[in-house]
Amino acid sequence: MSITILAIESSCDDTSAAIIRDGAVLSNCVANQEAHRLYGGVVPEVASRAHQANIVPVVDLALNKAGVRKEDIGAVAFTRGPGLLGSLLVGTSFAKAYALSYGLPLIEVNHMHAHVLAHFAEDPKPAFPFLCLTVSGGHTQIVLVRDYLDMEVIGETLDDAAGEAFDKTGKILNLGYPAGPVIDRLAKEGTPRFPFPEPAIADFNFSFSGLKTSILYFLKKEMAANPDFITENLNDICASVQQSIITILLKKLRKAARATGIREIAIAGGVSANSGLRHALEDMGAREGWNTYIPAFQYCTDNAGMIGVAAYYKYLKGEFCGQDAVPFAR
Ligand code: KG4
Ligand code: ZN
Repeated sequence: MSITILAIESSCDDTSAAIIRDGAVLSNCVANQEAHRLYGGVVPEVASRAHQANIVPVVDLALNKAGVRKEDIGAVAFTRGPGLLGSLLVGTSFAKAYALSYGLPLIEVNHMHAHVLAHFAEDPKPAFPFLCLTVSGGHTQIVLVRDYLDMEVIGETLDDAAGEAFDKTGKILNLGYPAGPVIDRLAKEGTPRFPFPEPAIADFNFSFSGLKTSILYFLKKEMAANPDFITENLNDICASVQQSIITILLKKLRKAARATGIREIAIAGGVSANSGLRHALEDMGAREGWNTYIPAFQYCTDNAGMIGVAAYYKYLKGEFCGQDAVPFAR
């Protein structure tokens, strides 16, 4: 029997709604919140208020784009966490109210699982087991994915996330928020000629706080000698920072792949939109004999499409939640 799911994502600063029919994404709409640019980062209070304003129009848009009526929805899915509590509350409350008024089952989705399962929104799909490097603004994980709903984090960051490394560097360089896409664009015009030290971290774990500090000290030193250093070398600085982050990520991913013997390798999350990372993964994959999986851009950053795809597999297993489900922040 066919199932049409309305999925809601509101964990951070993007309000998103999607319609998924039998695992296929019919529409995937995102309302970005521009307000945070003014503050150089996401302001939780601003984010929750904007979600309140955006949620109804975004859901309407998703229904219209999919050509689906409210009555056709068979289940409602929402991001339960991790994320900002005030932001999650908006999506969670909307989903509960919708499900209650139409008498529909509710499906809660873990945001990080959904980033991984975004790979099942399109072809080619990875085969199980696969490794997924999930890199976002809040998380950096290597996930061993045994099945749709069976995954284990085998490595993660001990401090900052990879996206934070991009965003915090961007703050130092005055590139606005989020800085990842800007650094990506500028890096294409630059040469990675400034080396930054790599952290010595055990196992499959990561650390990015040292990189941020060394970038800060490097720039302070250079600016003392030449106050125009950043303006004159911006593209090369961006290329160097991006290269350092990619090297840290891919070395650990290769270590995990070699240790587990897994050759199905995927990346996911906002930072997987980075063109340097996408190319470097393909190059490493060719050298290591991997099948690599890189999501389409719309499924990299936060979106409800991935929440709906994850919810579809939970629906198939009959994994529903009650009206008492509350968001979790971490
Ligand atoms: O997955 P996501 O949309 O939200 C979280 O769950 O955190 O990821 C957002 C992060 C931000 O840190 C942003 O700077 C980064 O993804 N990002 C990028 C690119 N596009 C987004 N980082 C590097 N290059 C990009 N092209
Ligand atoms: Zn995310």
